[in-house]
Amino acid sequence: MDERCLFPLVSSLLFLITLSPFCRAQLRQDYYATSCPNLASLVRSAVSLQLQHSMAAGPGTLRLFFHDCFVRGCDASVLLTSPTGDDENHSGADLTLSMDAVDTIKKAKEAVDGDPQCTNKVSCADILALAARDVVSLTGGPYYEVELGRLDGKVSTRANVKHSLPGPGFNLDQLNALFSANGLTQTDMIALSGAHTIGISHCDKFIRRIYLFKQPVPYNPPMNLTFLRQLRQTCPMSYTPSAFADLDPITPSKFDNVYYQNLQRLMGLLASDQVLFADKRSRGTVNLFAANQTAFEEAFIASMTKLGRVGVKTGSDGEIRRICTAVN
Ligand code: HEM
Ligand SMILES: *[C@@H]1O[C@H](CO)[C@@H](O)[C@H](O)[C@H]1NC(C)=O
Ligand SMILES: *[C@@H]1O[C@H](CO)[C@@H](O)[C@H](O)[C@H]1NC(C)=O
Ligand SMILES: *[C@@H]1O[C@H](CO)[C@@H](O)[C@H](O)[C@H]1NC(C)=O
Repeated sequence: MDERCLFPLVSSLLFLITLSPFCRAQLRQDYYATSCPNLASLVRSAVSLQLQHSMAAGPGTLRLFFHDCFVRGCDASVLLTSPTGDDENHSGADLTLSMDAVDTIKKAKEAVDGDPQCTNKVSCADILALAARDVVSLTGGPYYEVELGRLDGKVSTRANVKHSLPGPGFNLDQLNALFSANGLTQTDMIALSGAHTIGISHCDKFIRRIYLFKQPVPYNPPMNLTFLRQLRQTCPMSYTPSAFADLDPITPSKFDNVYYQNLQRLMGLLASDQVLFADKRSRGTVNLFAANQTAFEEAFIASMTKLGRVGVKTGSDGEIRRICTAVN
């Protein structure tokens, strides 16, 4: 057992025994209750203001949290920028980071540090986890308590991103393998994919699905013909790199379970979305979430909480960054 496990052991043996099967970083909902009591409302106001200014910042921020957690753990490494360009942000097409999303975290951090009680006490990783929650609830999804106490990491390299993030052409086995490597189940993966109920995808991520000449591409589950025709209008063969389509064509800016209903109508935009319905092993869960919004919301909250525990840093491998884009 390493030293950071001893403290809770001494302070609360019962807590450790009942809640922690392994020695895991001790995240707590009330971690900043005394050091920064207004944290939640400071972050929420900043996120809310940013969404009024740029709707795209919402989905971008939610995606940023996912990418942060899957690359070196939830440690805000995704926000670090290196003058040489060797950082997660510059890793290429798999990480089309929205500048508005990075800006959301910057503004939330400034709001938090602007409160004298909180200055330099809250990690960027925790602010990102809170901001992702606020995006979900401000776009119509459920509100949930966020576990806190992550430290910010000190390392971000381009190489870390390779093999860490799922691709839009992944099949079910590939998706399950990657999520499982992060301690997440198939059900977690399906629930978290529900984040694609908001936001957009650029045409290059699904172009091969709508033009048969490039088939078969790694994997191409069936697509609704009406939907396919619409997408060909949105993304002509001569599409520009900035062209995009909504991930949820029916309610693109509302966080709801329509994403799963779309899959039932073969209106999943990415192959990795539609495969969840196409593959019999995951179809039952898609049908459940499509039929029952509460079941989806409960599963999403549970899975986001698990996602937020991936690779958390609490020791000398972390710090509270003063600026989210640079190590101290
Ligand atoms: C299951 C595997 C996943 C794959 C293959 C995947 C892939 C993608 C791709 C290709 C895009 C479009 C990016 C672009 O063209 O700019 C996208 C967007 C997005 N992803 Fe995922 N994703 C996955 C899981 C997740 C998870 C777990 C979350 C969050 C919990 C998430 C949240 C988002 C959001 C919100 C967007 C919209 C971003 C925006 O509008 O700026 N994704 N994803
Ligand atoms: C991330 O990379 C993009 C594209 O290379 C760049 O425009 C942007 O400024 C970078 N983000 C940050 C926070 O530096
Ligand atoms: C295709 O989409 C339309 C419109 O949403 C829907 O009525 C139809 O049932 C879908 N087709 C299939 C095969 O699911
Ligand atoms: C929907 O899911 C919730 C949560 O799992 C459950 O309590 C409820 O009974 C379900 N509703 C229906 C109509 O099945």
